[in-house]
Amino acid sequence: MDQKRVLLIVGGGIAAYKSLELTRLLRKAGVGVRPILTRAGSEFVTALSLSALAEDKVYSELFSLTDEAEMGHIELSRSADLVVVAPATADLMAKAANGLAGDLASTTLLATDKPVLMAPAMNVRMWEHAATQRNLSVLKADGVSFVGPDEGAMACGEYGPGRMAEPAAIFSAIMAALGGGAKPLAGKRAIVTAGPTVEAIDPVRMLTNRSSGKQGYAIASALAALGAEVTLVSGPTALPAPAGVKRVDVESARDMLAACEAALPADIAVCVAAVADWRPATAGEQKIKRDGKAPDAIALVENPDILATLSQGKRRPKLVIGFAAETNDLDAHAKAKLARKGCDWIVANDVSVAGTMGGDDNAVALVTKGGIERWERMAKGDVARRLADRISQEFK
Ligand code: C5P
Repeated sequence: MDQKRVLLIVGGGIAAYKSLELTRLLRKAGVGVRPILTRAGSEFVTALSLSALAEDKVYSELFSLTDEAEMGHIELSRSADLVVVAPATADLMAKAANGLAGDLASTTLLATDKPVLMAPAMNVRMWEHAATQRNLSVLKADGVSFVGPDEGAMACGEYGPGRMAEPAAIFSAIMAALGGGAKPLAGKRAIVTAGPTVEAIDPVRMLTNRSSGKQGYAIASALAALGAEVTLVSGPTALPAPAGVKRVDVESARDMLAACEAALPADIAVCVAAVADWRPATAGEQKIKRDGKAPDAIALVENPDILATLSQGKRRPKLVIGFAAETNDLDAHAKAKLARKGCDWIVANDVSVAGTMGGDDNAVALVTKGGIERWERMAKGDVARRLADRISQEFK
């Protein structure tokens, strides 16, 4: 990584402080950081802090005689291997999506011929606004990559998507984009299932569950970052496909199993999806009419068990990992599940802890035939990276 360089554009948002930590992580990894601090950004962090951590000069002005004399802004836009915008404010995204170039940051984004990675950060309503979502689509179509935003409590007191991804997650995305870092899973194929399944009752009604898909998506992303060729078989979620991962969208458990089998042979399978245990015995072709009276019952039949099928199949991946969401007797249930399903490891999480389902953190225990390892509570992205790391050790 020693020769790699990042041009880091720090926009104006409360999350700008996280970019200082990001700068520190990058420098520690030997990546060069040349910072651009927007005027709004300088309301949140100082050029002095940024410059000290980056060990480089901070650029701020488009029409600065000294900056232009030292390095013209066109040169600046091309001096790095990757341009990172963190925080990417609604304003910076709008400017970049529309090709505006009224200041140094936006001019750099327009003039660069290098890949661009944005870490959006803004109020949830601003993020969800049609204009921002439109700009997001335009930027994606223009080839810009994104990390985050995360969902959670915001500095403005609201809750929802809009928080900037944590520095460690942005750092991983940068390392992946720079093509650096060790690739211990290069040449290995992995299947990851994620999200809920949807089982039709009739053309408009369904049985489903509250899985957000976050943990599975993070695992797919972490495996890809270590060089694995990942197929992410996903039920409906609100998440973007992680960079470098092939996503196959499915709805029912049966479709999910078929998509997994189509992705075989594989070296690794990680079943994170919350698969519906049962589905309606018959899915009406027509919408069931009210007819003044509720149906007495909806008859259910069992769904295939994807984890067990993959574990016990002829083309079994070398390493098969299941998840167990438990509310009590975590260890005993996880061990029993290991034996019943025939998989190698179970990652057990206690979903009785408030905020685990759909939240950003997870406290898990890794259950293998050798014993139980408890991991401290951490972000789902960190659980994913640690698991991917453990997986790579199996392939040494
Ligand atoms: O006990 P349970 O069957 O819910 O075990 C959960 C584990 O099994 C998870 O890894 C989940 O993805 C997987 N599973 C599956 N297919 C099912 C049910 C669960 O792959 N039909």
